[in-house]
Formats: sequence, C-alpha cells, structure tokens
Amino acid sequence: MSHIVLSGIRATGRLHFGNFLGAVTNFVKFQQQGNTCLYFIADWHTLTTLEDPEELRGNLIEIVKDYIAAGLNPEQSIIYAQSSVPEISELCLYLSMIQQMGELERIPTFKDLIRKNPDNVNLGLLTYPVLMAADILGPKATLVPVGEDQVPNVELAQSLARKFNYRFGDTFVVPEMMTQMIRVPGLDGNKMGKSESDNAIDISSPIADIRERYIKKGVTDIERKRASDPGDPYNRCQSVYAVHELVTSGETESREIATACLNAKIGCVECKHRLVDNIAKILGPFQEARAKLANRDDYIKEIIHEGGKKARAIIKATVEVVRDKMGIVVY
Ligand code: TRP
Ligand code: SF4
Repeated sequence: MSHIVLSGIRATGRLHFGNFLGAVTNFVKFQQQGNTCLYFIADWHTLTTLEDPEELRGNLIEIVKDYIAAGLNPEQSIIYAQSSVPEISELCLYLSMIQQMGELERIPTFKDLIRKNPDNVNLGLLTYPVLMAADILGPKATLVPVGEDQVPNVELAQSLARKFNYRFGDTFVVPEMMTQMIRVPGLDGNKMGKSESDNAIDISSPIADIRERYIKKGVTDIERKRASDPGDPYNRCQSVYAVHELVTSGETESREIATACLNAKIGCVECKHRLVDNIAKILGPFQEARAKLANRDDYIKEIIHEGGKKARAIIKATVEVVRDKMGIVVY
C-alpha cells in the first residue's frame, strides 16, 4: 500500500549523524518506494524556543541542503517550510477549539519542555502538539515516522483526528505512527543529539575531525583498562561498538570486531579508527554532494518555494472542508 508519509524537523541546529542515519535515510527509502512524501521544516515550532532569528533563517536553508545532499529528490518528495502554508496555523486554531487544556498540560513532552525552559513557559509550548496535529492532519498523512520522544505528540494528533471525525463527520485520516527508527548512540553512549550534551557527530565535519572526536571523546568499555584486558562490546561499549553495528556493512566485520574485543585482540583506538573509516564510507558521498550545494542558496530557496506551493494546495483543500464543517463562512 502506498502511504502519505509526513515528517517535520525543528530548525534549531544542523543535522547530526543520528538524524542522518536514524531519520533521513528512512525518508529516502520512503521516497524510493513510491509513497507521497512530505518533509518539512517546522519553523513555527522552532519559535517556541527561539534564540536568534538569523540562526533560524540560516538553519532552515542548511537543513534543506542536507536533505537534498542525502538523497531527497524535490521532484519526488514535497520539501517545504511550515510557514509557507498559512492554512496550517488556521487548522491549528480550529483544532484548539476541540482540545481540552488539561490534557495538554499533562503531556510528558510539555513537562519536559518546561523543565528545560523554566523562564520561558510560553503559550506556544502548550499548544505545540496541536500545531503538530495540524501539520499531520492537514495533508491527511497516513504514516508519520518520528523518534520515541515524539510519541505523545503524535498520539494527540491521532486523538484529535478521531474527536473531530466523531463530532463533525469523517474528515481526517487517523495516521499510523512509525517509531522503529534506528537509535544512534552519541559519543557518551546516550542517544545522539540531546541538546544538553556534547555527544553528536556533525555530518559536515571533515572526517579527520570526526576521527579526533571519537578518539578523544568516544566512551568505550570503562572496565577495560588495558588493551590486554578483554572487553565487552555488547553490553559495555555503547558509543563505539553499537555504532559499528549500524555502519559497518555486513555482519562479518562487526562480528570480527566483537570477537577481537572479547579476546583482547584489538585495542580501542584501532577499533575507533575502523569505525570512522566505515562512517567515512557513508558520509563521503554525502559530503561531496553537500559541497556542491554550499553556494546554491537560490536553488534551495526555489525548492522550498515550489514545495510550499504543492503542500499548500493539498492542505488548503482539507482546511476548506474543516472550516465548512465548523460553520465558518469566509465572506
Ligand atoms: N516536534 C517534532 C520534533 O521536534 C518536529 C515536528 C513538527 C514534527 N511537526 C511535526 C514531526 C509533524 C512529525 C510530524 O522532532
Ligand atoms: Fe569498544 Fe572496540 Fe574498545 Fe571493544 S575494542 S571496548 S568494541 S572500542
């Protein structure tokens, strides 16, 4: 069955290797399988924790460059900015009228966000999941791939779709959620890219810098004091061995590394060198494609503009129906 796949990303920074392997690689697969794919930059969601408008403007363009260089094809996927579609915010308003506030206050992602921004508990943070529901329901997405942390938000979108359909008649598709994305550990062994930590690998860094970061900061089996001690790759080496399993192609090489580690036949430095060699095989072609886009901002803006037009046409049609069902007439 072909899907309408939709996913968004906030423009708070650049993509890291975790986004690249965990999300973008899947986006490319969905595109190749002949689904209708909508991938957008959630620039309004970024405003909930805005630091610098200039940074937001820049990040948006750079993320789209990363998407294109990683293999998203603007002829096949609809790539756009949320703010290019004003009907999304209109839909958010309509949905907010059937959303109970208490339920929003209890959402774990909201509690998490206020914990991180105790000095800036703005209304946007509270309505964040409603805006996200508008992102998802506007184009009638059938499949939403997201990380584990977004589960409560997508569940809210599902419940809003059901609620609206129940009250106003069948209008929205209740989307399926996909969370089985690869979880890529960062240098400290925790999930890559948690904003508080410095554990991410920047996909645009020169391979030499990535190597240095792994050698200096990659946490290995802490109980392995010397190279002559056997290590435990499976249980105690989350930052290096777990990544080997993701990037070292073919079981044979990763098995061989695990066995060598268990038998103290390989040192951690050599092991890290081999890991980075394999990361380079993946990032090399990406970085080459990315370099060609470095000075092509106008081309990227054109892609976003065209994507916005396509997305808007789709979402507009849904919002017209919603308006009508709720009794709004635009005179
Ligand atoms: N909240 C998501 C995140 O931080 C980004 C996002 C916004 C999103 N709207 C979406 C993801 C709609 C999926 C669908 O990762
Ligand atoms: Fe981890 Fe490799 Fe060191 Fe084993 S040899 S502990 S797998 S870095």
